[in-house]
Amino acid sequence: MSISTPILVTGAAGYIGSHTTRLMKKMGYEPVGLDNLSTGFEESIFNDMPLIRADAGDREAVKAAILKYGIKDVIHFAGSVINSESIENPVLYYDNNTVQTMHLAQVCTANGVERFLYSSSAGVYGSNDKAILDEETPHNPLTPYGASKSMSERIIADITGTSDMKYIALRYFNVAGAAPEMGIGQRSQISTHILKIVCEALTGKRDKISIFGSDYPTSDGTCIRDYIHVLDLAEAHLAALEYLAKGGESGAMNCGYGHGYSVREVIDAALNATRQNIEVVEGARREGDPPSLVASNDRICSLTGWAPKRDNLEQIILSAYEWEKTI
Ligand code: UFG
Repeated sequence: MSISTPILVTGAAGYIGSHTTRLMKKMGYEPVGLDNLSTGFEESIFNDMPLIRADAGDREAVKAAILKYGIKDVIHFAGSVINSESIENPVLYYDNNTVQTMHLAQVCTANGVERFLYSSSAGVYGSNDKAILDEETPHNPLTPYGASKSMSERIIADITGTSDMKYIALRYFNVAGAAPEMGIGQRSQISTHILKIVCEALTGKRDKISIFGSDYPTSDGTCIRDYIHVLDLAEAHLAALEYLAKGGESGAMNCGYGHGYSVREVIDAALNATRQNIEVVEGARREGDPPSLVASNDRICSLTGWAPKRDNLEQIILSAYEWEKTI
C-alpha cells in the first residue's frame, strides 16, 4: 500500500461503495464517504467513516472535502444503475451519471486530485458479436444507462487530458455476492439484479422469479453474464489506484472473470447450493438486454497484478443468500 492520504469515495452508501469502503478500512486505507443517500442506505456506512451528504457533482461540497482532507485520490461510485429505468427516464441517467461526473472530474482536476477511478460498466459494449470483450471492443450501448457511462468515460478522458490527474474507468461486469462476515451485503429499494431476486425468492420475499427471455442465441436460450464477487471488485479498485500511484497510465479496464453463466445456470446453481426450490416462469425478453457479456480481464490482471480470488458461483450465491437471510 503506497497511498497514505484519505480517499474520497462517492456512493459510499451503495452496494459496491459500502463493500469497498469496508475493505479499504480493513486494509489500512482511510475512506471519506460522500453520498446523497438517494438510493444508498445509511446502515451500509460503517460508524467511524466520515460521511458528507451531497451529490457527487456538488462542486462546493467536493472542493471543501478535497481541501479539508487533503484528498489526492477519488473513487467515484455514485450513480444510477438500472438499465430498464434508464429507458423510461433517460434524463435521470444523463444527469446523475454523466453531468454529475463531469462536474466532479472538473472540480477534482482543479483542486489537485491526482488519481480518479470511475465506475463504468460492461453496458458500454451493449450489443456485439464477440464472445469475449476486451477493452478495445467498440462501444455500442443499448440503453441510456450504457450510453451515460460511455459518455462519462469520454468526458473524464478529455478532462484529465488537460491536467495531471490520471484515471481508470473500471468496466464492471455483473457484480454479485456479499460479505456477511463483514456485516455487509446488497440492499436495494428496487431489486432488479438476477441474483438478488433469486435470493429474495429463496428467503420468502417473492413468490416466484421470471426468466426474461429464453429465445436468445445462446446455449440454453437465456442471457449469459460474467458474475464477479463484489469483494474481488473492491480489491480491483485498490489494485487500480496503486497502479496509478506507481506511474501507471490512464485508461479503461474490464472487471470480470472471463467466463459466463446463463440465467438458467445461475438459477439452477442457486437451487442446488441452497437445496431449495422456487417457482420459475419463463417470461418475455426485457428491453435493453444484450444476449451475452463476458469480460477479457487480461489487461487488469497484467497491468495491476489483480487476480480473482472468489471465482466460484456457488460461493457467490451462498454469500448473497446468507446476507439476504439477515435483512
Ligand atoms: N434476469 C431475469 N430475471 C430477473 C432479473 C434478471 O431473467 O428477474 C436476467 C436479465 O434479463 C439478464 C440477466 O438476468 O439477462 C442479468 O440481469 P441483471 O439485471 O442482473 O443484470 P444486467 O446484466 O442487466 O445489468 C448488470 C448491471 C449493470 C451492468 C451490467 C453489466 O445492473 O449496471 O450488469 O453486465 F451494466
